[in-house]
Amino acid sequence: MSAISFDPARGVWLLSTARTSYALRVDETGAPCHLGWGPRLTLAAAGELRTPPAGESSSFAGRPAAGEELPVDGGARYGAPSLRVRFADGTRAFEWQQVGHRTWEPAPGTAELALEFRDRHYPLDVTLHYRVHTGTDVIERWTVLRNTGREPLTVLRADSAAWTLPPRDGYRLSHVTGQWSAEGLLHREPVPGAETVLTSRRGITSHHANPWVMLDAGDATEDRGEVWSAALAWSGSWQITVQRTPDGRTAFTGGAGHDGTALPLGPGEEHTTPPFAGVFTDGGFGAASRAWHAYVRAHVLPHPDELRPVLFNSWEATGFGVSEQGQRELARRAVELGVELYVVDDGWFGGRRDDTAGLGDWTPAEKSFPNGLTPLIDEVHRLGMRFGLWVEPEMVNPDSDLYRAHPDWVLHFPHRTRTELRNQLVLNFARDDVADWAHAWLTRLVADNGIDFLKWDMNRAFSEAGWPGREDGHDLLWTRYVQNLYRVIDRLRADHPGLRIEACSGGGGRVDLGALSRTDQAWPSDNTDAADRVSIQHGYGQIYPAGTMAAWVTDVPNQLTGRTVPLRYRFHVAMAGVLAIGGDLARWTPEELAEAAELVSEYKKVRHIVQHGALHRLRGPGDDGPTAVQYLTGDSQEALVLVWQRAPRHGTPRPVLRLAALAPEARYRDTRTGEVHHASVLMGYGISPELPIGDWASAAVHLVRVEG
Ligand code: GLA
Repeated sequence: MSAISFDPARGVWLLSTARTSYALRVDETGAPCHLGWGPRLTLAAAGELRTPPAGESSSFAGRPAAGEELPVDGGARYGAPSLRVRFADGTRAFEWQQVGHRTWEPAPGTAELALEFRDRHYPLDVTLHYRVHTGTDVIERWTVLRNTGREPLTVLRADSAAWTLPPRDGYRLSHVTGQWSAEGLLHREPVPGAETVLTSRRGITSHHANPWVMLDAGDATEDRGEVWSAALAWSGSWQITVQRTPDGRTAFTGGAGHDGTALPLGPGEEHTTPPFAGVFTDGGFGAASRAWHAYVRAHVLPHPDELRPVLFNSWEATGFGVSEQGQRELARRAVELGVELYVVDDGWFGGRRDDTAGLGDWTPAEKSFPNGLTPLIDEVHRLGMRFGLWVEPEMVNPDSDLYRAHPDWVLHFPHRTRTELRNQLVLNFARDDVADWAHAWLTRLVADNGIDFLKWDMNRAFSEAGWPGREDGHDLLWTRYVQNLYRVIDRLRADHPGLRIEACSGGGGRVDLGALSRTDQAWPSDNTDAADRVSIQHGYGQIYPAGTMAAWVTDVPNQLTGRTVPLRYRFHVAMAGVLAIGGDLARWTPEELAEAAELVSEYKKVRHIVQHGALHRLRGPGDDGPTAVQYLTGDSQEALVLVWQRAPRHGTPRPVLRLAALAPEARYRDTRTGEVHHASVLMGYGISPELPIGDWASAAVHLVRVEG
C-alpha cells in the first residue's frame, strides 16, 4: 500500500506511515473533515471510520468545534478558528469549495498530498498540505493561502493545521513553561473542558512556552500508552489552542502569530504557513520523544551526521572583558583539555564594554583587538581548533553608530516610547534593507576571518512592534521578520557551506523546529548550574535531540545560582548533550584541569551514542531519587547510562535502573569495570550503578556489546 491512498467510493484519504494512519475526507458541505489518527489501518478499514456524530442538536450547538482539518471562521462554527479572513468588502466568513487534489513524490521515500479549495465566492485559494516520509511516523502539515483577486485581503488567523484526537476519557496535556534561565519546565495536566491557549506574544519562540504539545488519554507512561504530539516549525510569535468541547471531543490548532496579529495578503500574493508536524505512538512519552529526535535528525537538521565538536565559550570566563591576549591564553588552556572549537562570546566589537553600548557596530574593538580578529583566529587555527564568534545581528544599542545613523531601523511606533530591554532595541528585520545590511556584514565577517561557527543570539522580546512608513507594516512585520531572519541565515549558509551555527536567544528563547532546520545546535538556557540543568535538559529533550543540546561545564559557585557542585557532576550533566566548557580555565587547579581533560576524552569516546543514539529516560527528575538517562546506538552495540543524584536522605536505597531496548540475547561489557552483563538482566532486573557517597554524586556507565 502506498503512503497516500484514496478510496473514491467513500471519498476517504489515507496517509500511512510505518506504524500509524491518518484519515480524512471532504464532507457534504465541502469542508475537509477528520476521520482518524492512530494505529495503522488499511484503506478498506479506514472506510469504516465516521466523523463522530454530533451530540444533542439545538439551535445553539453549531458545527462540532473539533473534527475539521482546518476549522474556519464561518458558518455555525464557534470553536477556536484555524483560519479567519477579512475580505476587501469587510466580509469575514469563509465557505469551503473543493477544487481538486494532487498527490506526488517530491523525493524518494516522501509522499505529499495537497487538497485544494477556494472560497465559494471570494478570491481566496486554500490548499492543505500533508507530507509523509518512509522511516518516520511524523506527518508534516501546512497550509497555503493565495489571494487570487484584485484587492487586498487580511488574514486574521492562519494556523498551519488543526489536529483532532479520537474520543477518549481524561485527556492530559504535556507542555513546557519557563522563563529566562529556567526554561523547559514540564507540565502534565488534565485538559480542562474549555480552551487552553499556549502562546508566545514576544516575536520569538520564547523561554516561557515552546510550540509543541503532547496529549495522552491520561494513562500513558514513559514506556507505554497512546500519545499524540505536534510541534511547530516557527521562530516568531505563535499560538496553539487546545480545546475540549462540552460534548467531550479534544482537538488542537496551531500556527504562527498570536492573538491580534494579522497578515495582509495583497492581490496575487501567496502565504505558506510553517509546518506543524504531528506524530502518534502507542509507546508512551519516551517513544514520542524518540520519534521526534529521529525525525529532527532525518528531516530537519542540515548536518545531522556530523558529530558536534567540544567547544569552549568565553562568556562566563571573561564576560565583556575579551581581549586578544586574554583569549589567546584561554585558547591555549582549552586546547589542552581537548577542546575542538573555540568561541569568543560578547564584547569583541564596537564600543561594547558592557551591555549599554555597541550592538550594531560589528567591527572588532580597536583597543582589545588592535590588529583585528585575524591574529587570534590564526592562533586558534594553529592550535588545531576551529574558531567561533558570538553575534547578535537583530539588535542595536541606542548608544551605537548604527542607531545614530539609522534610528528608523528599529521596531517602533510614532509618538510611542521605544522601550529598551537590556539597553537595546530590536532592528526591524522585516525590512529588506535591514536584512540585507545584516547579511552583508555577516558574510564579510565570516569570509574575511575564516570563521567556522557563529553563535547567533537574540536578547530581548519585541515591544512597540511597529513599522511606520509602510501602510500594512505593523501587521506584516510579525511574519516578514521571521521570514527575513530565515532568509539571512539561509543565504549565509549558502555563501559559506562550512559555517556552523548555534541558535541562541538569551538561552532557550529560540528553540524550535524552524530554527533547528537552519542551525546545527541550540543553547537551551543561560542557566549553567548543573543541578538546574537536569530539569531544563529534561524539558528540552521532550522534542529536541541531545545532538542539538549545547551544554557547558562552568565554574562554581555558579554565577547565577551560587551553587557549588563537583566538577564530575557538572561534566556528567553536560555529557548528556553536546559537551562544552565555559569556565575560567585560568582559575582551575592543575587537578581540575587534569580531571577535565580526562572527562573530555571520555566524552569523545561516547559522544556518538549521545548525539546520534536513542534516548531512554530511565528515571525523571521528579523526586528525591536520582535522575537517569540511557542512550543507545541504532545498532544496539553501545549504551551510555548517565545518573545524577541530588542530596539523598540517609537510608535511601541505591536506585536500581532497568535498561531499555538492548539486544535481548546479547551481553554487554562495562568498559570501566570490565564486568559483563546479560541484556536480560540489565533490562529485566536492572543495575545499580555505584555512586560516590554524598551530595551531587553522578556516574557514567558505558556498555559495549560483547561479540559471541
Ligand atoms: C545571552 C546569551 C549568553 C551570552 C550573552 C552575551 O544572554 O544567552 O550566552 O552570549 O547573551 O551578552
